[in-house]
Amino acid sequence: MIPPNVPARGGPGLPQVRRLVTEIPGPRSRALAARRTGAVARGVGETLPVYVHAAGGGVVVDVDGNSLIDFGSGIAVVSVGNAADGVVEAVREQVGRFTHTCFMITPYEGYVAVCEALNRLTPGDHDKRSALFNSGAEAVENAVKIARSATGRDAVVVFEHAYHGRTNLTLAMTAKSMPYKAGFGPFAPEVYRVPLAYPYRWPTGREHCGEQAAARVIELVRDEIGAGEVAAMVIEPIQGEGGFIVPGRGFLPRLAEFCADTGILFVADEIQTGFARTGTMFACEDEGIVPDLITTAKGIAGGMPLAAVTGRAEIMDAPQAGGLGGTYGGNPAACAAALAAIGLIESADLAARARRIGELALPRLRALAARHDIVGDVRGRGAMLALELVRGGGDTSPDKELTAAVAAACHRRGLIVLTAGTWGNVLRLLPPLVIDEPLLLAGLDLLDEAFAECAESAASR
Ligand SMILES: Cc1ncc(COP(=O)(O)O)c(C=O)c1O
Repeated sequence: MIPPNVPARGGPGLPQVRRLVTEIPGPRSRALAARRTGAVARGVGETLPVYVHAAGGGVVVDVDGNSLIDFGSGIAVVSVGNAADGVVEAVREQVGRFTHTCFMITPYEGYVAVCEALNRLTPGDHDKRSALFNSGAEAVENAVKIARSATGRDAVVVFEHAYHGRTNLTLAMTAKSMPYKAGFGPFAPEVYRVPLAYPYRWPTGREHCGEQAAARVIELVRDEIGAGEVAAMVIEPIQGEGGFIVPGRGFLPRLAEFCADTGILFVADEIQTGFARTGTMFACEDEGIVPDLITTAKGIAGGMPLAAVTGRAEIMDAPQAGGLGGTYGGNPAACAAALAAIGLIESADLAARARRIGELALPRLRALAARHDIVGDVRGRGAMLALELVRGGGDTSPDKELTAAVAAACHRRGLIVLTAGTWGNVLRLLPPLVIDEPLLLAGLDLLDEAFAECAESAASR
């Protein structure tokens, strides 16, 4: 049933305004939340219990008719906007012809075309191959399988604060215990965690962070793990769930160079950063990195579930025929959506839009930090931006409770923001790349208001 005051369909035609007609969440959302409690397992988390009726551009319209500003994009997925016209048409056309055959049984063109697009768009002009999967975690798992098959080595090196997914192997690769790992072990072996160049918290300061952290990682890999044992070093060029940490400059190129010298495959996990989110098609382009393998998902298909591993042809072709795949990997509707989404990203130059979002938002976030010393760090690139919240007054201890309070104050005002970070003290902003500028600025105004409200109570504690 379509509730009163809400449009029948979503997409870019929705009015691009914030409009609150009930408290947040409203009565219809609360009724659905009560049903959820009786039906859905508790372990499936939720950030903001407004139940969605339609979404498009930069807004999410809930079942009570509230129109919220979307600074989350469903965790960096709907970069081209929710229910984007081209994506909806492509999916409709595809599912009207066939919904599934299994690419491994009787193949179809869409899968091949997505792989061609990935091979063309990912960094490096060497010969490449791709394989398609359903989720980011599945892509990371397969990248490790491929790297092991190609190198004949077992070990995988990952980083502090990393997030690579929730399957058993990817949980071993993910850093954060609560809530992701606690109680779910034992985890897959041969996964080694090394330090990340985290500029805000690097003991000797930001300036030498990249260089010093790289030296430490190299020492650990060479002397303790054994470079000759390592199949892959897997890294997010900007960490996602770990708190949008942008590694100190020089860190990634030095590690890529070390990997090339020692036969370790450098795997860029661009599941959150990819497809124009950070102002370039892929975040590792910023420092000229050409990964051996790259994992993608999220922004690839305008909201349809699709993920991929792309890389050097000789590495990708190492596993035996039949060694990779899955029933649904590269589903035809998801491929049609990806081709449409990639078309939109390129034709509308959404990388430039991401840069523009950063140019508009970063000065506002820096001004916010100048007003409130509870903002320890402002960071990110393009439309992947974050604030790290601390106790303030010179105390840089992470402040998770305050972060939750600011997020809740945003939500009450009709602004969807997400939190992140190993200590839960990072507020992250991931607007759709197609968001209107006035709506973006209105969202930033709401963020200012939320901080003004919460900083007062933080100061009085
Ligand atoms: C960098 C990165 N890798 C892997 C994943 C896992 O992706 P999925 O949730 O689609 O399994 C995520 C999801 O947030 C991610 O941000």
